[in-house]
Order: sequence, then C-alpha cells, then structure tokens
Amino acid sequence: MNYASSRLASVKPSASAWVSQAAQRARAAGEDIIDLGLGEPDFDTPPHIIEAAYAAGKAGETRYPPTDGTSELKQAIIKKFQRDNLLEYSAGEVIISNGAKQVIFNALMASLEQDDEVLLCAPYFGQYKDMVLILGGVPVTIQCGAATQFRLDAVSLEKAITPKTRWLFLNLPSNPAGAVYTEDDLRAIGDVLERNPNVLVLSDEIYEHILFDGKKFWSFAEICPSLKDRTLTVNGVSKAYAMTGWRIGYAGGPQPLIAAMTKVQSQISSGACSIAQAAAVAALNGPQDEVHRFCAAFQARRDLVFSRVSSIEKLTLDPPAGAFYAYIGCSKLIGNKTPDGTVIEDDTAFTNYLLKDAKIACVPGSAYDLSPFFRISTAASEAVLTEALDRIEASVAKLKPGN
Ligand SMILES: Cc1ncc(COP(=O)(O)O)c(C=O)c1O
Repeated sequence: MNYASSRLASVKPSASAWVSQAAQRARAAGEDIIDLGLGEPDFDTPPHIIEAAYAAGKAGETRYPPTDGTSELKQAIIKKFQRDNLLEYSAGEVIISNGAKQVIFNALMASLEQDDEVLLCAPYFGQYKDMVLILGGVPVTIQCGAATQFRLDAVSLEKAITPKTRWLFLNLPSNPAGAVYTEDDLRAIGDVLERNPNVLVLSDEIYEHILFDGKKFWSFAEICPSLKDRTLTVNGVSKAYAMTGWRIGYAGGPQPLIAAMTKVQSQISSGACSIAQAAAVAALNGPQDEVHRFCAAFQARRDLVFSRVSSIEKLTLDPPAGAFYAYIGCSKLIGNKTPDGTVIEDDTAFTNYLLKDAKIACVPGSAYDLSPFFRISTAASEAVLTEALDRIEASVAKLKPGN
C-alpha cells in the first residue's frame, strides 16, 4: 500500500530535524554527540513572557482565538512594525499563525497556481523549496555564492524572472549564511521588481534582531515603499525572544492576500494558541533588553567560531553578519580520504564523516542548495563551541589528499 501522495514524492523532511534525529539516535547508543544541527536559541524564554502566558491562562484566555489572531497581538505587531521598520499596517493587513513557517505555507497555499515559479536565493532555508513543491509550484534557485557575500544581486534576479514567476523570497539576515543586505542592495532588487509588476515578494525577517557589528536592519518594504502592496513581511517571536516552542509567527501584507491566507488557516489550524499569543504580546510590548543580551552573546560566539575556523587551513568562512549560524566552505576537502579510505565526495559525505569521527552533528550545504559547505548553529555555549571546533579541527587534520 502506498500511503504518500505523488505530491510528496519530491519533498524531503527538514534537513536540520533529520540531522538532529540522527544525533539523538547516536546519543541514545551512548555516543558523546554535540548537536549543532538545529536552529534555535539555547536561551530560556524571558520570565516576564512566561508570566504573561500564565496570567492569560488564569484569566480565562483559553478558548478558540480569532483565526487571524487576537486583537491584542495584532495591535502589538502593528506597533512593532511602526517602531522597528517604519511600516504602517492596519489590523486587516496582519495575520498571526503557528510560527513563521505556517505564515509562509499559508501565503504559498493562498497564491500559487500549478507550475508557478518561486525564486529562492541559495543558500536558503530548505523548507522554502519543499513547501513550494508540496503546493505544485516550481522552486527556481538563484545561486548567491561567497562572491556576493551570499546576497542576491540585481543582474541575477533580472535573469531569473520569467512570465511564470510568482514570488521572490528574501531572507534578511539569512539562514544559513548570515547574509545582511544594505539599503542599496534592496533598492537595486526593488528596481528590478518595479519592472516586473506580477512578482510578489516574501521578505522573511525572522532574524531581524540578530545583527552584528552595529549594523542597522532594513526591512524590504521600508526601503521599497512602492512595492509594499506586493510584499509580505514575515516575522515571528521564535528567534528574537527564544520562543521556538511557542509557535507564533506573523506577517504584514496586502489585505486581500492576508484574507486569502486567513481562509487557508481557517481550514487547517484555526487561530494560533491563545496563551502563546498573550505571551507574544508581552514579548513585543515588553522590555527588549533580553533581545540585546541574546544578540551580544551570538556576536561573541560568531567571533569565536570565525577565529577558530579561520585558523583551519582547509576550511573557509566569511564572517556571518547576522543570524546564529556559520556556513563553512569545505571545497578544499572534496576528494580527500578519511583514515578508513572513504572518499569525501561532497558536503554530505563530509558531514557524515564529522558525525562518525568528531561526533558533531551539522547540516550539509546540499540542504540549502549551495555546495560544498556545511552549516553549524552557533546557538550553543562558548565552551561547547570550543569543544566542537577542537573536534572538527582534529577530524579535518586526519583527512589526506586523494590520488
Ligand atoms: C529563515 C527562517 N524562516 C522561518 C523559520 C521558522 O520560524 P518559526 O519558528 O517561526 O516557524 C526559520 C526557522 O529555522 C528560519 O530559519
């Protein structure tokens, strides 16, 4: 009996979840694994946010919330967009879902026709592609390599657009490379889109607050206001407030698109958890000092990882400017042999070797459509990262050039 639909044939499970499961299995078998696979802050949700959830439960906020979100959280999101991004949205232009992931899925479900193309800037968050595939769309990859510091440039965008292009996905700052766009970068992208009026933009800004070296964050619709009515600005509380388990994501966008997304959500999950929405109100309206503390910790870890990787001759790393990952180049290792004679054919072979030899779980660049790289999450303590880099260095040193 074949239980899976043909639509699922080309869809893969999330790579980082798969890597973490492999790490858990190895750990259960008694191995001393360091898991740098998953993308979630290792901090606790700040206490005032947890208190707000508890208070909401006690106050009886335990019933079905409105499908598109509670009015309190919508107001907090409207204020957040005004405060941080100088963007004006009305309540009908905002939706709250079970994480940014569901926001993105709703948007595609609401808007994509069979064979519509979605432009993805590799390396990209792998789920974008699989969501497009599930919904019958065609993911079109634009390679944005180290030469452009993993950023999309206007010429490549222009070349990739066809009459079938429905969406361009941007991720500011990006997972996995930590790419950060300047105002000029975004304006140049906006200029191309002005000439292509049928293309929508999904700007995934979930790492907005994890930005290093004093850089300023620019939201796409803020820099390209004439494209605001074609832009879905996606964000969430998972990364900034260490709230991955609370599952609250949100978006601001044109009212008809938000209405269509709400229709999708009404048939799938209804409104997001009422208690988690109350917690998200406290996160967005409350003190932001924990956000700054998390960011400073991520920057210190970025510095540590950058300095350690730079000293490993066969690996390369452009210092990530945001988010909490390092996307490490391993092209010099391709073709090398492990001590047992296995050839490192690609980045997947290298991450398999790291899992076996160094007991480090990390995700191969193939999961992000740009090889040969591997991604480590820097959401771990400096002690754990130091131990992980010691092990990676030792395992790399054991590799010998192939013939
Ligand atoms: C770029 C990007 N977008 C969206 C998400 C999903 O976030 P959420 O927890 O809000 O679903 C992630 C999580 O890893 C991500 O890296």
